[in-house]
Amino acid sequence: MDYPALFSADTHSFFRSPVRDIFKKVDLSKIYSFAGGYPSAETFPLDDFSKLMQKVIAERGAQAFQYGATQGVTELRQAVATRYDVPIERVQITTSSQQGIDVLTRVLIDPGDVILCSNPSYLGAIQSFKSYQADVVGVPACSDPAEYRRRWEEAIERCLDNGKKIKFLYAIADFQNPSGETLSLEQRQILADLAHKYGFLIIEDAPYRELRYEGEPIPTIYSLAPDATVHLGSFSKIMAPGFRLGWMIGPEEVLDKVYVCKQSLDLCPPIFDQYVAAEFMSSGMLDANLEKSKALYRSKRDLMLRLLEENMPEGVTWTHPEGGLFLFLTLPEGFDAVKFYDKALAAGVAYVAGEFFHTDRSGHNTMRLNFSFMSPEKIEKGIPLLAKLIKNEK
Ligand SMILES: Cc1ncc(COP(=O)(O)O)c(C=O)c1O
Repeated sequence: MDYPALFSADTHSFFRSPVRDIFKKVDLSKIYSFAGGYPSAETFPLDDFSKLMQKVIAERGAQAFQYGATQGVTELRQAVATRYDVPIERVQITTSSQQGIDVLTRVLIDPGDVILCSNPSYLGAIQSFKSYQADVVGVPACSDPAEYRRRWEEAIERCLDNGKKIKFLYAIADFQNPSGETLSLEQRQILADLAHKYGFLIIEDAPYRELRYEGEPIPTIYSLAPDATVHLGSFSKIMAPGFRLGWMIGPEEVLDKVYVCKQSLDLCPPIFDQYVAAEFMSSGMLDANLEKSKALYRSKRDLMLRLLEENMPEGVTWTHPEGGLFLFLTLPEGFDAVKFYDKALAAGVAYVAGEFFHTDRSGHNTMRLNFSFMSPEKIEKGIPLLAKLIKNEK
């Protein structure tokens, strides 16, 4: 059978995630892996889950395993609406935030339409954007507000001059994946202003927002421009990724299209999981567990930062995230983190090369390190080993 002749045009734009391919190649328990974005399994409150699952079955019986509403069960939508102080009509439950990204792209993008994003950006989003043949335009991140505005406006004007249609700007405002960096209020306001000025949407992807280890929360982009923003949340990092649940908060007209799209996509998010998640939120277990998770991740982040300081050679710099799961290393000019990867893996250390997160495959001398997954003991051994390998390479 000539299978390729049968594949759709979209499949030509699919590309494999090098991050997920790493997991196929190696046994994570046998190496020092700073590669994945896995939360620590220690943060999964198994006893709470067990109690809640029994409660849901006792109280709801077979209904907990039936098909349900496409928007999600009312109990969970209401719990999300209450927590984030939005009307329930603006809440759609998703089968995780990855689906939120994908379904919005499907609803908004025709081949060739522009999606703006910061460079670097989350790989899973770029994969989804490309799979719908979007023209993904990366704008280099920077902290100075005036320069920040200039870069975005320049990119927007260039797209418009080329006759392109800009549909949305994708932003991870809190503890970005991969950089770990957070947008200031001024930067968020700039994005909101640009969305209004040029008439495009912002997709604010916020799976790490509740994992803040220091400083005060900054208002969401959604709160600055609720008419122009779709906010995506996820239970993956505050409960457990295995539930595959997230939420979307946005303008009702956009949500209505998402609703119809999801009817053909998965009919409804997993019902049993939603009831468990609703109980997890309303019982206070989520907040109690979040405090424990944040304490654990804060200590791991601090450990990583200390070890990097003590071990990395001169010329290597890194971000200091106030939350989330990642930090981003910049190595001296000329360092090739993709080439270096096999050597590091052979010595027992994994990371993700930064260029995979760049829409133009720049950032050769960068790498993303995760600090949530491994035990402190492994981090204590892994960072000095990575530093030694980098020193030898220089
Ligand atoms: C920025 C960002 N968005 C979305 C996701 C997908 O998360 P999930 O589908 O588990 O909610 C991830 C996962 O790592 C992520 O880093």
